[in-house]
Formats: sequence, structure tokens, C-alpha cells
Amino acid sequence: MFEPSVPLEPRNDPFYHAFANTAQIVFKRFLHFETLTSTNEYIKNQGVAGEPEGLVVLADVQTAGIGRFTRYWHSPQGGLYFSLLLRPSTLKVDEVPLINLTTSVAIAKVLKDAYGISASLKWPNDVLVQDRKIAGILAEQQILGDTPLFVIIGIGINVNISISSFPPDLQPNVTSIQELLGKPVELPRLFSYFMGQIEYWYLKLRDQGFAAIAPHWRQLCLHLNKPIQIAIKEESITGISIDITNDGSLILLTDTGRKIIRTGDVTNLQLKNQD
Ligand code: BTN
Repeated sequence: MFEPSVPLEPRNDPFYHAFANTAQIVFKRFLHFETLTSTNEYIKNQGVAGEPEGLVVLADVQTAGIGRFTRYWHSPQGGLYFSLLLRPSTLKVDEVPLINLTTSVAIAKVLKDAYGISASLKWPNDVLVQDRKIAGILAEQQILGDTPLFVIIGIGINVNISISSFPPDLQPNVTSIQELLGKPVELPRLFSYFMGQIEYWYLKLRDQGFAAIAPHWRQLCLHLNKPIQIAIKEESITGISIDITNDGSLILLTDTGRKIIRTGDVTNLQLKNQD
């Protein structure tokens, strides 16, 4: 028989305390589960049911974590898997990717500030260390005309996970905080850092626009002014990625001129291992 998921009791849960210590201007309500199929799926149902902006849902384990292009997201114990519910009244549907880009900046800043880990960003939303993926972001939205009714930002971070626990085909392309530091880190504390920084950067985007974020993104981008290949469905385009637009698209200089790329998977031609 199907048993609905029940969140953990807040009182003695360090994650509730960690959440309560963050800024909480936007993110006000928190639910923590031991296991969910997917935090994005859970929060989507809450969004449809009318939940206001600011819910954050965390799961210790996801049994059916979702990545971009409906890929599987490996979600064993030891990682951070959480989703945020936003109702961004000032953004248009085609500006929602800006939240992705902004969140990836927040994640890279935390890795640097908390652990001295230098992460780079691969457009649109991969966070890499030494060319291996350490975090991913999945944005989904429900729309009405050209306005997002609500946006879900799902974030997965490889924290205390050993590389050998990943499926063999992924192992060359992934890393984790534990792998980089040689020891595990305290998850609730890290979660608190992430929530504080994600809120800080989201408010910057909301109040000052992407112009305030773009210089940070450019500084962290792995492939700016480098030759890259972008896989778009069955096709692939090659060129130099020269900049990012105000709506978060990538500007690619190709043999036939400038192309604006709105969605796709970047393959940096100078790297061997890509997902
Ligand atoms: C990617 O493909 O890079 C995006 C991965 C996003 C994974 C996170 S984990 C928390 C949230 N719940 C999901 O099912 N997916 C996102």
C-alpha cells in the first residue's frame, strides 16, 4: 500500500535549526524528509496545491532524483538534495533560467568561502571542480501565458559521497566535497551556508537584476572565450562562447556568425571527460 511521506519532527533535527539560522526573507518554511522520490516532485505538488513562495524541502535520500533532460540524479545518503518554491512576480517565463545561473554562483561562492574549494561554472547550471561535476541545479516552472505561476529550483550537491558509489559510467565525471577534502563535512552547517547564500544572491537578482550577477558568473565560468561544442537535441554547434545575455542565453561565435543559445549541453572541446 502507498504510504505518504511524513516530514521529520523539527524539535531535535539539526537541519531545522540550521534552516532557522539562515536569512529567511524569502525562504520561510522548511520540511525535512528521510526519503522522497524527488524533492522537485514533492514541491511541485505543493505548488499546484497553492503553497506560497518560500517553502524549502530537503531529503536525505531520493529514490528517483531527476536531473536535466529527465536524466537520473544519483542521490544516496551523504548528499544534499533540496528544492525551493518561488513565485517570482518580476520575472518573465524566459527569464527563469537567470535563477539557475544565480544559484550556481551562490553554490560556487559557498564552496570557496567554506572550504577553499575553487569551483567553476559550466553553462547553464553545472558546478564543476577540476572538470568534474560536484553540483547540479534543475529549474522547473508552471506557467500562465508568459508569467511563471511558480518556479521550483532543485539543487543536488555531492557532499559526503565516495566516487565509488556512483554508477561506473559516471565515476570519471563526478567529484564530492568529501573526496576533495579527504574527510566528511557537517551537513546541517553546510546546508545553512547554502540557504543563506542562495537567498542573498536570489534577492540580488530580484532587486538589482541579472546585471548585478553577470560579472560574478563570468568570473566563475569555465569556458568563456574558449571553443566549445553545444549539444542541442540531436544536433551540435561549435564555436567560441563569448558572453552571456541579460536573459541568461549563451552567445556563441560560430563560423557563420553569432548565435544565441537558449538551451543545450556544453561540451568544452579542451576537456576529455564530459557528462
Ligand atoms: C542536473 O542534471 O545537473 C540537475 C540535477 C538536479 C538534482 C536535484 S537533487 C534535488 C532536486 N530533486 C530532484 O529530483 N532533482 C533536483
